[in-house]
Parts: sequence; structure tokens; C-alpha cells
Amino acid sequence: MTARIIDGKAFAAILRESVAEHVSHLKKTHGITPGLAVVLVGDDPASQVYVRSKGKQTVEVGMHSYEHKLPADTSEGELLALVEQLNMDPSVHGILVQLPLPEHLDEAMVINAIDPAKDVDGFHISNAGLLATGQKAMVPCTPLGCLMMLREYSGNLSGLNAVVIGRSNIVGKPMAQLLLRESCTVTVAHSRTRNLPDILAKADIVVAAVGQPLFVQGEWLKPGATVIDVGINRIDQEDGSTRLVGDVDYDTAKEVAGAITPVPGGVGPMTIACLLANTVTACCRANA
Ligand code: GUN
Repeated sequence: MTARIIDGKAFAAILRESVAEHVSHLKKTHGITPGLAVVLVGDDPASQVYVRSKGKQTVEVGMHSYEHKLPADTSEGELLALVEQLNMDPSVHGILVQLPLPEHLDEAMVINAIDPAKDVDGFHISNAGLLATGQKAMVPCTPLGCLMMLREYSGNLSGLNAVVIGRSNIVGKPMAQLLLRESCTVTVAHSRTRNLPDILAKADIVVAAVGQPLFVQGEWLKPGATVIDVGINRIDQEDGSTRLVGDVDYDTAKEVAGAITPVPGGVGPMTIACLLANTVTACCRANA
């Protein structure tokens, strides 16, 4: 069997189109333009690429983009003052502080200083708690994008065995909560899990977010499983170039899985599209 390829790029384009229509409707009916503020501290090259891409796509769907670039030696007080200013600004509906922050800054403190209603990343403890207790929350963008693709490819998820590999606050834990909400039987595995192949043998759904290149082997999968690969790892090639690979060994997995996301072009594009969708949601809730 060769798996169906889950085209995250095409999926994200459709979601962006829908976001753009909502934005246009909000402008016409309420005279409101949603605004997203992105804060970048320091000059991490990967973060700079992400932030540029977020700003560009925000403008493309018709929203206001506010970029705040601060030097790497910004103090916690200065960063918290900016977050507070954005919390108070009615033209800002979503706030995202790009992670990782430089080491001298306390990430949890900064994230928890964001107004939960503007926390479009869904990282604030209030949003994590609301999600875990089945209440209306801002949902983290990467797991939200994964869920949208799973729903499309696996249909009704109720009763399916889902294995999430990875226990991060950004992906693994909220992904597990979302799958529970869909009535899946959820197992959270991670880098220390024993006998992962035995656990995966029963998994109808696999979400790999462990951060280890080519970690999941095709032969471990249940035939027909839907596989979502969140990993983005760079590996050096013999010719000096680098290759982008996921946490799943795509070449062997695609021979066993029923459907699978490629890397790149799978989960990645959906994350930013979901960020735009969350910003519209935050704007609508603020003006309801
Ligand atoms: N760094 C890597 N991914 C993310 C994300 O989804 N949100 C934020 N704020 N920082 C990140």
C-alpha cells in the first residue's frame, strides 16, 4: 500500500482563503480590521524567518501586522512593559511572543503576562487549563492544524487509538487534549517510552512531535494508520548540503500508512494558517 499524501500546503491555502473572507466580512459589517502583534527578541535566524513569514501572511489575508523587534539584551521589565502595552491596545487582537526567548528571560512569566483573550498561541496557563477542562480556549496552532488534517483524512475520530509521541507544552500535551476531546483513546509516548513499536502497532492515528530525525520507522506502524509528522529536523548530507526531514522515516512509513504528511509541506504551513484563524477568533470574541 502507498499512503495518501496529506497536502498541508493546499490545506493551508484553503484555510487562509476562509480567513481572508472573514476579515473582509468583519471590515464591511463592523468596520474592524483584526490586528496581530508579533514580538521577536534577539536575532535567532530561524525565528527571524518565521516572524517574517507570519507578518507577510497576516497582511496577505487583510489583517494589520505589528512587528516588535527587540535586542537580545532586552530586560524582562522592558519586555513585560511591551506586552502590557499590547494588552491595552484595542487595535491588537492577537499577541505572539516568538519562542525561544534569550536565556535570561523567563518564558513562562512572559507568556503568562499576555492577556489570555489575546493569546493566539494558546500557551497561557489559562488557555491550557480551559482546553484541559473542555472549555472554550485559544488552542495552540500546531495541534489545531494537525487536528484539522486528521478530521479531513480520518473522518470521525471517535474511538480511534491515537498515539502522540512528544510531551511538549506547545504540541504534545495540547494535541493529546484535543484528541481526547474527539473521543480518541490517547496514549502519550515520548523519548523515554519503552517498547514504542508495540504501542504504535495498535495506533490508528500517530502524531510524531518528539524532535528526533527519522525516529519512527514504517515497520512500527499499523497498516492504514494516519500519520502526522510535526518534526522539522535538518540533517547534514555528505555533499555538504542539508536535508529537511521529519520525526518519521517517510520513505518506509508511506509504504505502510494509509495517509501521511510530508516534511516539508505538511504540518508547517498549517501552523501559520491556524495562527491567522486564531487572530480572527480573538477579534470576534473581543467584539461580540
Ligand atoms: N517557536 C516555534 N514555534 C512557535 C510557535 O508556534 N509560537 C511561538 N510563539 N514561538 C514558536
